[in-house]
Amino acid sequence: MSTTPTEGIEALLHEQRTFAPSPDFVAQANAGAELFEQAAADREGFWADQARKYVQWETDFGQVLDWSEAPFAKWFVGGRLNACVNAVDRHVEAGHGDRVAIHWVGEPEGDTRDITYAELHGMVQRAANALADLGVGEGDAVAIYLPMIPEAAVAMLACARLGAPHSVVFGGFSAEALHSRIEDAGAKVVITSDGGYRRGKPSGLKPAVDAALAVGETSVQHVLVVQRTGQDVEWTEGRDVWWHEALEAAAETHEAQAFDAEHPLFILYTSGTTGKPKGIFHATGGYLVQCAYTNHVVHDVHPETDVYWCTADIGWVTGHSYIVYGPMTLGATQVMYEGTPDTPHQGRFWEIVQDKKVTILYTAPTAIRTFMKWGREIPDRYDMSSLKLLGSVGEPINPEAWMWYREVIGGERCPIVDTWWQTETGAIMISPVPGVTETRPGSAQHPIPGIVAKVVDDMGQEVAKGSGGYLVLTEPWPSMLRGIWGDPARYKETYWSRFEGMYFAGDGAKLDEDGNIWVLGRVDDVMNVSGHRMSTAEIESALVSHPKVAEAAVVGAADETTGQAICAFVILRQEAVGEADEAGEGQDLVAELRNHVAKEIGPIAKPRQIMIVPELPKTRSGKIMRRLLKDVAENREVGDVTTLADSSVMSLISEGLKHGD
Ligand code: WT7
Repeated sequence: MSTTPTEGIEALLHEQRTFAPSPDFVAQANAGAELFEQAAADREGFWADQARKYVQWETDFGQVLDWSEAPFAKWFVGGRLNACVNAVDRHVEAGHGDRVAIHWVGEPEGDTRDITYAELHGMVQRAANALADLGVGEGDAVAIYLPMIPEAAVAMLACARLGAPHSVVFGGFSAEALHSRIEDAGAKVVITSDGGYRRGKPSGLKPAVDAALAVGETSVQHVLVVQRTGQDVEWTEGRDVWWHEALEAAAETHEAQAFDAEHPLFILYTSGTTGKPKGIFHATGGYLVQCAYTNHVVHDVHPETDVYWCTADIGWVTGHSYIVYGPMTLGATQVMYEGTPDTPHQGRFWEIVQDKKVTILYTAPTAIRTFMKWGREIPDRYDMSSLKLLGSVGEPINPEAWMWYREVIGGERCPIVDTWWQTETGAIMISPVPGVTETRPGSAQHPIPGIVAKVVDDMGQEVAKGSGGYLVLTEPWPSMLRGIWGDPARYKETYWSRFEGMYFAGDGAKLDEDGNIWVLGRVDDVMNVSGHRMSTAEIESALVSHPKVAEAAVVGAADETTGQAICAFVILRQEAVGEADEAGEGQDLVAELRNHVAKEIGPIAKPRQIMIVPELPKTRSGKIMRRLLKDVAENREVGDVTTLADSSVMSLISEGLKHGD
């Protein structure tokens, strides 16, 4: 543990403002206070009710929870369902085929598509048939590497329809990162596109797939390529297949089969404390139930009337749960946007809210802080009176950003839900329930009905109000991860060994005097940059793989916009030192190293800052003291150095950096 969870929080806990939901909001809210009572009275019975309310089961389940092999859970035992049928077919069968499922907005202005549930139904059937024609069947993994286009959702749903677990890899990851994810999952097919639009120009995706598959032996037999930008692509005959041609050639209808509730729905890689990303895998039944339930009670989605917009990328869990599986299982109408918030102008988000009459907006604190920086005159130009609820996810939201979100975006009328959860939890765990909870700026507040979360001390004892500790979940939940792909031991070790019988989330938290939970951020060596999880170890190993680097240490330093920023300290190999000393060479080397990290992991992992230093601070047992490096990166007085093996190291580093400036 490198950080004390209570560091720097005192000021926050004086936050006393509360905001009660308006009577108008309460009158239309999906959830009322009785939900908490029902869940508290009989938790498993409560989840059984939600499972039957939100999901259509082809075969009903018997036992709600089998926890006999804890921490390996089985939810809704014996139940059988098809996730794609739940997200698409049944809405058409219920007569809602004409309802828009996706208002898609491409980054180039005017490039839009509206897709109804009936059209989506047609697309997922053809896509499922096309995948089956390429040999994909139950249990075969499929990698998806796509921009934010409707085909990304179609591809995921088509896999779900076939019982083929998908593994979506965020488009900002490099060929190297893609390669390791493809091979770890043993993917048989990769679905990609020629490219996508980003910041006003087409950028390629297929080249990264080609490079990933050229690395060596591969499990991949076919690459299915969506045409998005029309740019030229290399083509491997026999392996590569155009998506549009495959769909055209495929049969129009596809009869979906039901799968066991515990059948793996997807794998999603996330950073841990070691250099190797973890393949988090989720099962079908419990995941779908909790996604739909939370989207209904927390985002307060009314499928008949709302226009919902989650701004996340489909490559992250937020996109899985709250673009694809939650809203679609409810049969909601949503906006999906391909590009960045400032293309072609800084009012793009608010223009979309105005044009599409968005009622529910779910975004990240880092985006909110960026909008704050750009100034309120930009959103003030648009009519955003359609908005009724705002959500936040991905990292702690500071009270100042929360208040700005409420006043400037929400017109002081929209409740804000600050939702805490993780790739591993699959769906929202801690959040206000709008219409019930009086919200408090900066706090995720309390577990939602059906979830039990606590803040405990080092010994696993619950802390008193006003104290800090570690965030744990003391009862299993339906959308919990079922494990780490191919590594059950790591699953037990990472999540269930720190505190007996409890799931340790890796976050520090504090309870305020009113019992609200304040999530403070990671207490392990995982950083949170713009709501994206990054491992210090992974970036360190990318740096060390560069021939000029002898040793590297990475820390997350506080950053006003991105929450944390990646700062790297690098010791060069002897032969590279002289080179860097020559005037100007140091900067070139820093640029070279930043690009090297982008190549190894992806542009999102590029350090904000790389500092070339003569030594790294280590304890006598050789562990790097990141706490001290963090002090340097955050321009603070360096803290206690008495446990360093060599206490002069810190002054050496500071001296060197001063000269470097
Ligand atoms: C980590 C999980 C949840 C989907 C997106 C990120 C941090 C997430 C909050 C919040 C404070 C938050 C935690 C968590 N986090 N939401 N509302 N308040 N911190 O998923 O990549 O799996 O990251 O994000 O540190 O452990 P993820």
